[in-house]
Amino acid sequence: ATLSLVLGIETSCDDTGAAVVDSKANILGESLNSQTSTHVELGGIIPPIARDLHRKNIDKVVKEAMEKASVTLEELSAIAVTNRPGLPLSLLVGLSYAKNLSKESGKPLIPIHHMEAHALTVRLTERVEFPFLVFLVSGGHCLLALVEGVSKFLLLGHSLDESPGDAFDKVARRLKLKNRAEFGSMSGGASIECAARQGDPTAFPFPAVRTGYRDCNFSFSGIKFHAQKLIEKEEARQGVEADGILPNVADFCASFQYGILQTLARRLQRALLFCELKGYLQESKTVVLSGGVASNHFVRAGLSRVCAMYDASLVCPPPRLCTDNGVMIAWNGVEKLKSSKCLVATNDLDSVDII
Ligand code: KG4
Ligand code: ZN
Repeated sequence: ATLSLVLGIETSCDDTGAAVVDSKANILGESLNSQTSTHVELGGIIPPIARDLHRKNIDKVVKEAMEKASVTLEELSAIAVTNRPGLPLSLLVGLSYAKNLSKESGKPLIPIHHMEAHALTVRLTERVEFPFLVFLVSGGHCLLALVEGVSKFLLLGHSLDESPGDAFDKVARRLKLKNRAEFGSMSGGASIECAARQGDPTAFPFPAVRTGYRDCNFSFSGIKFHAQKLIEKEEARQGVEADGILPNVADFCASFQYGILQTLARRLQRALLFCELKGYLQESKTVVLSGGVASNHFVRAGLSRVCAMYDASLVCPPPRLCTDNGVMIAWNGVEKLKSSKCLVATNDLDSVDII
């Protein structure tokens, strides 16, 4: 088989990413522009601002990835682009850019599902055969799915409200961990993990979540709300000043982290039981754990214990591939290229839209 080369473009949220990946899983060139600092300053992602930043950066990012790869448009096999799910205004920037490139070059377009791309990224660096379970736990997502093939997914559960990363970030902000030099430059989640190291995970009880529901869906707003109320109560009890930090912040962080782990662990256990019952994952049981929250060592250790109970092995892709980037889109394009029915010809580009 000849080597194929795919350009991947990602603009579904707040990262403008592009990369060229070949069918032997080599990353030939990549470029990423993160808007995080702007959105942190503004207190959240404002869709028209995200769109404007994508517009401003996309040409530079794509050209940089192509230049690093020393690849011309002519040499590409196809152009892969995220068209679902995500912020509509952001998705449109990448999609229309990719359509123009496709028209200009005559190269076919491959529309990519952002979550599917996250789920398959592991196969770029490791030998993981279908079917496997994927568990995405990040600032943007929380989902559990059975991956049966490149384009065959069974969604087992997703978050009904916010993401676990959001809960970590909001609780870290409420704990004022950002005011502390030792935690200042970390993400909310990482600062909680760090503060929790000396803490007792059983110091504060956290409620069990959705135990009465026989599904794999998640909810994190209850845990977050409980955490915020507890902080308020503890701060009042201990007379903590407005910009002060709880003296027992380590215990609090350890308990909160344990609360999050418990709900993740219960859902993973349900998913493994479901697969066992249905006869999925019979040959080799693999759970792929990915996303920013998955880099938490306490969470990872807890989930790997759950996997061990079911003779499943836990695989975590390298953290730099777990976040949004062009590489995962290009790689998903490479995998889809093998079944050419996913290709959209240049005379049919109008049929592709954001979903
Ligand atoms: O996958 P990711 O880098 O990007 C998005 O989803 O956008 O996830 C970022 C999230 C943030 O909410 C951050 O607080 C959380 O992952 N995170 C962590 C840790 N490191 C990052 N949460 C818990 N423990 C960590 N060590
Ligand atoms: Zn993502």
